[in-house]
Amino acid sequence: MSSGTLDSLWLDSLAAATRTMRSSAIRDLLKLTEQPHMISFAGGLPAPQCFPSEELAAASERVLVNQPLAALQYGPTEGYAPLREFLAARMAGQGVPVPSAQLIVTSGSQQALDLLGKLLIDEGAPVLVEEPTYLGALQAWRPYRPQFIGLPMDEQGLRTDALEQQLQRGPRPRFLYTVSSFQNPTGVTMSRARREELIALAARYGLPIIEDDPYGELRYSGERPPTLAALDIAVHGELRHVVYLSTFSKTLAPGLRVGWAALPEALTTRFVQAKQGMDLHTSSLGQAIAYEVSRDGLLDRHTPSIIATYRERRDTMLEALAAQMPAGVRWTRPEGGMFLWLTLPEGCDGAELLARAVEQQVAFVPGATFFANGGSENTARLNFSYPSVERIREGIARLARAL
Ligand SMILES: Cc1ncc(COP(=O)(O)O)c(C=O)c1O
Repeated sequence: MSSGTLDSLWLDSLAAATRTMRSSAIRDLLKLTEQPHMISFAGGLPAPQCFPSEELAAASERVLVNQPLAALQYGPTEGYAPLREFLAARMAGQGVPVPSAQLIVTSGSQQALDLLGKLLIDEGAPVLVEEPTYLGALQAWRPYRPQFIGLPMDEQGLRTDALEQQLQRGPRPRFLYTVSSFQNPTGVTMSRARREELIALAARYGLPIIEDDPYGELRYSGERPPTLAALDIAVHGELRHVVYLSTFSKTLAPGLRVGWAALPEALTTRFVQAKQGMDLHTSSLGQAIAYEVSRDGLLDRHTPSIIATYRERRDTMLEALAAQMPAGVRWTRPEGGMFLWLTLPEGCDGAELLARAVEQQVAFVPGATFFANGGSENTARLNFSYPSVERIREGIARLARAL
């Protein structure tokens, strides 16, 4: 028997990988943002007014009454067949004709990220990420202990010149991860030219790409460029270099936990095997409801109202920033999605600013959190989808006071 304390009974059994997991002082500050007077630009939540709750309630009743087995029984790991057919047809309409056999339903895109980490990352293996990048991807992959290599971005998205230099220097990365449209956290969209360049580099250097696209349908201005998946298929006649991820979280509701992955044929079986070990399959009920509302045309009817709401909130935040921010502060002007990115004058620290902002009852996420290897302390992510236009105006005024 060990003489350790009761705590050490479990803590001594923790896997080595958990040593890279940590919560931060920032998380403690962000806990304060749940207070009612706090205006929070920190979260990443859809506006609850945008949930199509009545349609979802009616669809739930229909599937439970008419198709109880599809909704309540165990189902195939690959996903509910009618939903996969629907997704295949929808993606084909968006220039991504992938056989439904290569479309796997996942428990949100987040699960797809973890599964891909499990399949593709060995300890110390190089993984290319945008700088900054989606925090949830870093959290999913850190336990597999890759060597993250950050690539710079500008207003056109990932800098493909820096990528090519990295690929020339080697070693061969396991994959490149990109949030190609309205990136979380910066709001930046990769330009069409960069997308074409990226697909050309993928072919030249044998580079696998994970394209994470949860926000692509939420565009408020400008032209929609083709997805990397669409370009890959246009060039190679099949999905070859790109794994494409999307989700119902931003267009229906994140509580459904239904997303999907379009995979190159070579990876599909492995992906399904890994998913089987993780959760057998995504919630049958969630999938049946998502399919029921989708086949009824809800996505096309409902998305315009989300776009109208978020466009107004984005415009309000941009106007308030222009009116209130002191000289030397810069920000991105996203054409869609839920976030924009603030760059403070050199030497300003986002975490220190957060501490002062919380005193003024406003919160955001300091930008350094989104860098795989740290740095860029003078940055911040602001969410504009959740707070109302009144609270956005007031919150930006408070933030300006804190600055
Ligand atoms: C870039 C990105 N990928 C994945 C996810 C996870 O989405 P899901 O709810 O489908 O798991 C999010 C959620 O905010 C995200 O911003």
